[in-house]
Amino acid sequence: MTRETTRVAIIGAGPAGLLLGWALRRAGIDAVIVENRSVEYILARVRAGVLEQGSVDTLKRLGVGDGVATNGLIHDGIYLQFAGERHHVDFNELIGRTVTVYGQQAVVADLIDAHKHDGSPIYFESSDVAVHDIESPSPRVTFGHRGEEHDLHADFVVGADGFHGVCRPSIPSSALTAYERSYPYAWLGILATVPPSTDELIYCLHEDGFAMHSMRSMEVSRLYLQVDPSESIENWSDERIWDALHTRLGVPGWTLHEGEITEKSITPMRSFVTSTLNCGSLFLAGDAGHIVPPTGAKGLNSAIADVTILADALIDHYADDDVALRRYSDVALGRQWRIQQFSQWMTQMLHRHPGGSADHEFDYRSQLGQLDYTTSSTHAMRSLAEQYTGLPL
Ligand code: FAD
Ligand code: DHB
Repeated sequence: MTRETTRVAIIGAGPAGLLLGWALRRAGIDAVIVENRSVEYILARVRAGVLEQGSVDTLKRLGVGDGVATNGLIHDGIYLQFAGERHHVDFNELIGRTVTVYGQQAVVADLIDAHKHDGSPIYFESSDVAVHDIESPSPRVTFGHRGEEHDLHADFVVGADGFHGVCRPSIPSSALTAYERSYPYAWLGILATVPPSTDELIYCLHEDGFAMHSMRSMEVSRLYLQVDPSESIENWSDERIWDALHTRLGVPGWTLHEGEITEKSITPMRSFVTSTLNCGSLFLAGDAGHIVPPTGAKGLNSAIADVTILADALIDHYADDDVALRRYSDVALGRQWRIQQFSQWMTQMLHRHPGGSADHEFDYRSQLGQLDYTTSSTHAMRSLAEQYTGLPL
């Protein structure tokens, strides 16, 4: 058994864990990151793509913003499409804020690169990761790595291990309540090697269901289709996917360009929030504590927001000020519930609710009314702009 000590043991090398480890390292606070997947797996994982202005500012402030500054695509707004018409919502004109399209994969690659040069140690491909003694001031993490058993002692453990990680379940059930809801739809997402057919993201409600056109670069497009959660990706040939995208996204005088599909997968949609992000010496950050349906592009941004708050709180703690650390859970969850509300609103407005009943038809027409209002009232557009580009930290 190899015994080690550090200040902060971080479980998970997703965006939350990597950014926290980096922010602490820059402040001279020792941290160790323990991850159960390989670096190759993590770098290949395709997920979110839109960064709020505040997330970009955080990456730049922490010295890991060169990639996003060079390769990020700044978007002034989005298109909302419904009833066969496309409407532009110009955030920059409305409130002077923008978003940046830059893939989560690229954020993670930049962070891993930074850690390699001058960062926290990362144990990739760890096995049997477990946290112990979280209700004491000396918690531990045990794990296997390259045939060795490790016993990592720390002042704090941070669970940045995503929704399916081990940290949240290690909190006694009496100390935590889960608030959640699932949705009767899922997203089929593709990456295609073709220049985007649009300058900004298109979110579309069509009678057949939601569709979206996003991008990763001027050479790679990212597109999504609402599908039934029970759908299997094997039932969706490339041809069927493009057909559905043409039907849902098509408007007169506009062409959707097809390209080689290099990745396709189906993601279920869920809203989930824990009642606390702190139990004793354990703190949760990112998807470990909350998840949103992807429609508002908030998952990655929420992980970055949590970590920004938690890193500052831990830095204060080591400067003998514990106020922010004690308030971390309340502050981060307060912000998170506003984000939950926005993500749920975007999701319900833009997806076709399954059914065939009179309610179902009523819902669809009511959603069209909601979209009509949202794209014609300056107040409604400002509210959307404010929330989409990101609430202040
Ligand atoms: P994660 O990125 O999940 O990182 C957690 C890390 O912990 C992972 O590296 C994992 O391997 C590791 N881990 C897990 N268990 C253990 C363990 N026992 N021991 C050690 N390490 C462990 N959001 C959007 O806004 N838009 C999208 O389009 C979008 N698409 C998504 C698609 C998918 C398939 C998923 C799952 C999520 C998607 N999200 C999207 C959400 C967004 O990607 C997440 O909110 C974001 O990844 C959260 O970052 P995180 O660091 O908290 O968690
Ligand atoms: C992307 C994902 C989202 O969930 C979203 O709302 C916008 C863009 C993307 O993957 O590019």
